[in-house]
Amino acid sequence: MSGVPQRLPEEGHKTFYLETFGCQMNVHDSEKVIGTLVQQGYRQVETVEQAGLILYNTCSIRDKAEQKVFHRLADYKKLQAQGKKFGVLGCVAQQEGEKIFERAPHVSLVCGSASYQNLGQMLVQLENAQVDGASRAVVGEIPPPAGENAGVRDDAAGGVARHSGLRTQDLIRITGLDDRQTDKCFETEFTARTNPHRGYITIIEGCDKFCAYCVVPFTRGKERSRTSDSVLAEARKMADLGYTEIQLLGQNVNSYKDSAGKLASRKSFAELLAAVGEVPGIRRVRFTTSHPRDFGPDIVAAIDAVPALCDHVHLPVQSGSNRVLDAMQRLYSREQYLERIAWIKASKRNIVITTDVIVGFPGETESEFEQTLSLLDEVGFDGVFTFKYSPRPNTPAIGMDDAIPDQEKAHRLEVLMARQREIQKAQNRNYLGATIEVMVEGYNQARGQWIGRTSQNKTLNFSAPVGPGLKAGAYAPVLVTGLFPNSLLGELVV
Ligand code: 5AD
Ligand code: SF4
Repeated sequence: MSGVPQRLPEEGHKTFYLETFGCQMNVHDSEKVIGTLVQQGYRQVETVEQAGLILYNTCSIRDKAEQKVFHRLADYKKLQAQGKKFGVLGCVAQQEGEKIFERAPHVSLVCGSASYQNLGQMLVQLENAQVDGASRAVVGEIPPPAGENAGVRDDAAGGVARHSGLRTQDLIRITGLDDRQTDKCFETEFTARTNPHRGYITIIEGCDKFCAYCVVPFTRGKERSRTSDSVLAEARKMADLGYTEIQLLGQNVNSYKDSAGKLASRKSFAELLAAVGEVPGIRRVRFTTSHPRDFGPDIVAAIDAVPALCDHVHLPVQSGSNRVLDAMQRLYSREQYLERIAWIKASKRNIVITTDVIVGFPGETESEFEQTLSLLDEVGFDGVFTFKYSPRPNTPAIGMDDAIPDQEKAHRLEVLMARQREIQKAQNRNYLGATIEVMVEGYNQARGQWIGRTSQNKTLNFSAPVGPGLKAGAYAPVLVTGLFPNSLLGELVV
């Protein structure tokens, strides 16, 4: 070995490919990760083949999502021979930690979302390790880690090297695995938003609820809110850039706790929501996800008072049975959930309600499942995201008896979805003949239809006379003429 830094094919043109799995929080984290990379001189490319650095922002909410990343890593392992580097970010990174290096020895970087503020330094470490890869003496010279747990180690695990067929000295291991204790939010100077009209703002990160089935409190760390000043500054900046729709994000947005300024001037979630809705230029504000426990009538009052707040609340119920809700440690009863629904329905506006449901939680009986079905009837949701219970590491539910066989979970899921389809058709009938404002999202060439989204977050596909001058991001009135369970059909009103 020469000791002369090795030139990599992409040197001077640092490129990365990033694939994102999972929720909107992950999608938005990726926008900030891209911002960090671009600021450090990287260019995003469309394919793994074009990239020097291949990153996966991962999800571990259910087992299926977790397995996806390991499949991807296996699929592209051979590209390591071309000098490409691999990194695993997000929830699987935090959950599995250094075990990822054992399962996929070609991975060089493992970074959980609670460590993203160290990502810039970790990239520098990766580059240094890469450039000097030919002479392994460099390991000790790599700059010290920024966070307590962000570090580089020369992997001496011979077993790892044997599995991979790689030489031990070629392995680079950089980790950012800050635990639940971080109280920092991931704020970036530059965020690479993918949509020029509609953008996300994270207001709260992490979760302290510890529902019995959920891995999030372990993967995303403790609950921490941004200041309302910082959120509002970002909203104003987005409005200046031409954004008209903002979606406030958090695992539990309504657990938001402002820490800006004096106690008296701190904003509740409802006040922050209203303030974002009053930013000049912002026409629509959405928020997700709300936890029923912390959902108060002040949120409905804010929607009533501020026209820019959208007619939509996503309020995950998970189950209609009090016994199951208690076992899930959801901190509310069916009756309390229905009380919140009554507040929303009492609004002057037509607020649409959507929810999440888990079927087959350990010990869920047929009659408990039926209580979930009856809750769907009682509420009349406009959308339900349904999930088969998936046992997750570290969670209390993993040790519970009475697992429900997968076949039974699949059956309950089918029954629930069929029931909900009928409910949605009935709900959508209420819109026939109404004229609704949509934000134009694009044009479907094959169907010859424009794609629009209503304030209620419904897809409204519509036809328009030739040459109406529509484009993505515009707002337009549309007459509803038809319906499906998951979308509406209409014609542009000219
Ligand atoms: N199994 C199945 N679904 C889950 N969810 C969270 N954890 C699990 C799990 N272990 C669902 C919940 C939550 C949504 C984001 O994912 O319904 O609201
Ligand atoms: Fe998971 Fe419950 Fe926290 Fe939601 S509130 S992220 S379901 S632990």
